Amino acid sequence: MRKSRVLLDRDFTIGTTDPRLFGAFVEHLGRCIYGGLYEPGHPTADAQGFRQDVMALVRELAPTIMRYPGGNFVSGYRWEDGVGRQEARPHRLDYAWLSTEPNLFGTNEFIDWCRMAGIEPMLAVNLGTRGAEEAGRFIEYCNHPAGTELSDLRRAHGWDAPHGVRFWCLGNEMDGSWQTGAKTAEEYARVAVETAKVMRWVDPGIELAACGSSGRNMGSFGEWETTVLEHTFDYVEWISLHTYLNDYAQDTPAFLASPDLMDHFIEEVVAIADAVAARRRSRKRIMLSFDEWNVWYRTRRREENRTVPGWPVAPPILEEQYTMKDALAFGGMVISLLNHADRVRCACLAQLVNAIAPIMTETGGPAWRQTIFWPFAHMSNHGRGQVLRPLVESDAYSAAYHDPRGPNDPKIPLPEVPYLKVAAVHTGGHALSLFLLNRGLDQPTRVEVESRSFPGLRVAAAETLHDHDLDAANTRDAPDRIRPAPLREVAVRNQVLSATLPPASWTMLRLEPDS
Ligand code: AHR
Repeated sequence: MRKSRVLLDRDFTIGTTDPRLFGAFVEHLGRCIYGGLYEPGHPTADAQGFRQDVMALVRELAPTIMRYPGGNFVSGYRWEDGVGRQEARPHRLDYAWLSTEPNLFGTNEFIDWCRMAGIEPMLAVNLGTRGAEEAGRFIEYCNHPAGTELSDLRRAHGWDAPHGVRFWCLGNEMDGSWQTGAKTAEEYARVAVETAKVMRWVDPGIELAACGSSGRNMGSFGEWETTVLEHTFDYVEWISLHTYLNDYAQDTPAFLASPDLMDHFIEEVVAIADAVAARRRSRKRIMLSFDEWNVWYRTRRREENRTVPGWPVAPPILEEQYTMKDALAFGGMVISLLNHADRVRCACLAQLVNAIAPIMTETGGPAWRQTIFWPFAHMSNHGRGQVLRPLVESDAYSAAYHDPRGPNDPKIPLPEVPYLKVAAVHTGGHALSLFLLNRGLDQPTRVEVESRSFPGLRVAAAETLHDHDLDAANTRDAPDRIRPAPLREVAVRNQVLSATLPPASWTMLRLEPDS
């Protein structure tokens, strides 16, 4: 059995988690909206067509902010199509996913759904085929109280009070060749600035996120962020980051090591943002919105998984079935986000239902939790507070991660990967939550956690996600094949917690004062 050691001290902190760190994303993509969270006629649907079985799982998952309506979809979206009488709304071709968009669900339905779920809405404006004028009109429709054509239109549509949406994304992945209306960094930055000006004139209380690169593996990564921030620095509060991890190479150790690349990515974007600030002698700090993150590969590259011929409505695309192994890599991403809570102040799991999602549904049938549901629910329900800076002693291994879009060499060397990846959150009072990923495939890890200045702790909860079959998944017929089980070998003595983590496992521990 491997041995590792973690030292925590309540005075060694990284930062306090922002509630927006625990967000997710719903796009007009496949069955995410239609047949996912919205399905009139479903046995659990309410009067507005919102599936209540999905809503119950969303509440359990506990996301805090929801990004909408895309994603790639937003780069061709006309927000006007999705408001007003449903019968009068147009059907349109969606170039992002080669589907037909019926527009039965639009901005007002999204806002209502968010309010019902107790989630903050985040909206993206189309900077692919549109620009400042349409974005200004959109925010006027949403946030202006009354007395203008568009605010009164919203009221006439039945939403008297303004929506008060605070967080807005200035487009999506505008560097991506797959984007409708892709742009160079200069082109994007110029339109982003002009759009930001107009949107803030309409509502000075908003926060704006500029698009970062579509991924660290884009050839333009770095240059893109620098150029975009040089232009937009005075106009935005946020820069976005996106990452999807893969196991194309079927190399589990490398796959489980790959969340560490997310740590590098975050630190690189922080360095670029702060370099732009330094050149201006500015104390302003641009915060990071990691507004797309997940594991995604089985349904990513092959055309037949991305699109269905014939422009169907809500085709079953990107319906990735997540395995035990995926949940582990996903858990590593959760830890990376928590450990950068000082600068990653917003993050959105992409996505929420059916399309690369923690929640799956059958249209007309049941809803169930995918394997990745669990690390997210652990983080969101137990990871809020002051993130501590853990000192970790663990054996390490080396790996080479396969990144097919890598600019030079598709193999990224990861020479020092600790078997144990850890985040620790002081959740208030003397309570602590620990999130532990054991990347060792062959043997358990005995971990000792010394938690200084947390006297008299007891184990309030110890849950582990583990299965001998790393390819096991949850399905309609076996929805609970992978779910957390109690971790038995765990105890606290004299401020030292000892636990035996099974090989290839994700564990959440809650420690509370023993009073
Ligand atoms: O989340 C799926 C897609 O991935 C999004 O639409 C896009 O922004 C990204 O490329």
